[in-house]
Amino acid sequence: MDSVVRLMYKIMARILFVCLGNICRSPAAAGMLRHLQERDHSDLEIEVDSNGLGDWHVGALPDPRMRKAAQDRGIILATRAKQFKESDFDAYDIILAADRAVLSKLNEYATSIQQKNKLRLMTAFSSCNKDLDVPDPYLGEEADFELVLDMLEEACTEVLNHLRKSQ
Ligand code: 4NP
Repeated sequence: MDSVVRLMYKIMARILFVCLGNICRSPAAAGMLRHLQERDHSDLEIEVDSNGLGDWHVGALPDPRMRKAAQDRGIILATRAKQFKESDFDAYDIILAADRAVLSKLNEYATSIQQKNKLRLMTAFSSCNKDLDVPDPYLGEEADFELVLDMLEEACTEVLNHLRKSQ
């Protein structure tokens, strides 16, 4: 979206969540952020999306275990997996990585200080989980998916509080 269109729609921040496969953590983070924004900050105009470093699941819906866990919290996850691409550095203002391994790879891809400055962990604004990795639940059990959603709920609440303050 170019700057004229952003001004027309008063979009204050474009936020991208990135994980490894784009079927568990990052689509859940994007769904959680949108859910909380619609519920608690409907006046904040944000653009939210997610993608993954790998291409293994491109085109797939989020993992059924994550969809079920999110649906139980009233959040429908229906995006299709995409792979991170270089142009995302320009298309987004804040790029939030699920864990240190993902953050490190994104830092390798960044070609300027401006691009690197957009990179943070998903928990960067969190209070109780600040700068913790959101653990990969892919090989885990139901409780691991619940833990991810608990962490994301708190982290996304604080992302929105941060955006509110920086308005
Ligand atoms: P995500 O979880 O990065 O949270 O989407 C994963 C999903 C798939 C794989 C790894 C992590 N995988 O290796 O296929």
